[in-house]
Amino acid sequence: MRIDIITVLPELLTSPFEASILKRAIEKGLVEVHTHNLRDFSTNNYKQIDDYQFGGGAGMVMMIEPIDKCISMLKSEREYDEIIYMTPDGTTLTQGIANELSLKENIIILCGHYKGVDQRVRDHFITREISIGDFVLSGGELAAAIVCDAVIRLIPGVLGNETSALTDSFQDNLLAPPIYTRPAEYKGWKVPEVLLSGNTAKIEAWREHEAQKHTAARRPDLLD
Ligand code: ADE
Repeated sequence: MRIDIITVLPELLTSPFEASILKRAIEKGLVEVHTHNLRDFSTNNYKQIDDYQFGGGAGMVMMIEPIDKCISMLKSEREYDEIIYMTPDGTTLTQGIANELSLKENIIILCGHYKGVDQRVRDHFITREISIGDFVLSGGELAAAIVCDAVIRLIPGVLGNETSALTDSFQDNLLAPPIYTRPAEYKGWKVPEVLLSGNTAKIEAWREHEAQKHTAARRPDLLD
């Protein structure tokens, strides 16, 4: 998989890809992440990429031309399955969307800034708009990093068996059951007996029951 991120702040998109699972996925060649500084595609001497909005009003708008130039350059090199715009008024990210995106070959993620992008960018280039929640960030970069993290860990080979994504919360519309490790007793606080029993069928049944209980208590909407 290849992810191209278009941004005015590429420095916000370095460290997430330089540590842990995402770093290893890149090193293993399972994913490539490239950032593109939108200012490099500005058409004037001031490296301008935003302008006042027509009709008046506070806040600058990201101009269509640099974005078109950047997307066109990328599209001339390969075909893209999705061109995603990170925006608080997009579809809220879910595990289902992450699963879907993890199957794609090439995607572009455009990070919004200021008031957002000229609507014509959304109308003519963007295939999908994603929000990471009902709150407003100062730009789309951190949201894009979250999408990348959620997607990349699902690519086959990225997680080992010991960190399999199949048992994650949400993967089957259930929250994950409680988990424990050694010691079996700490300050008198005991690990549930069944987990020490070695009876895998009983353990599975207990986990399923706990996941149902936990989901009903915290996220009954997931059970609908
Ligand atoms: N840009 C600003 N806020 C955002 C959000 N909540 N999700 C995605 N992109 C954003």
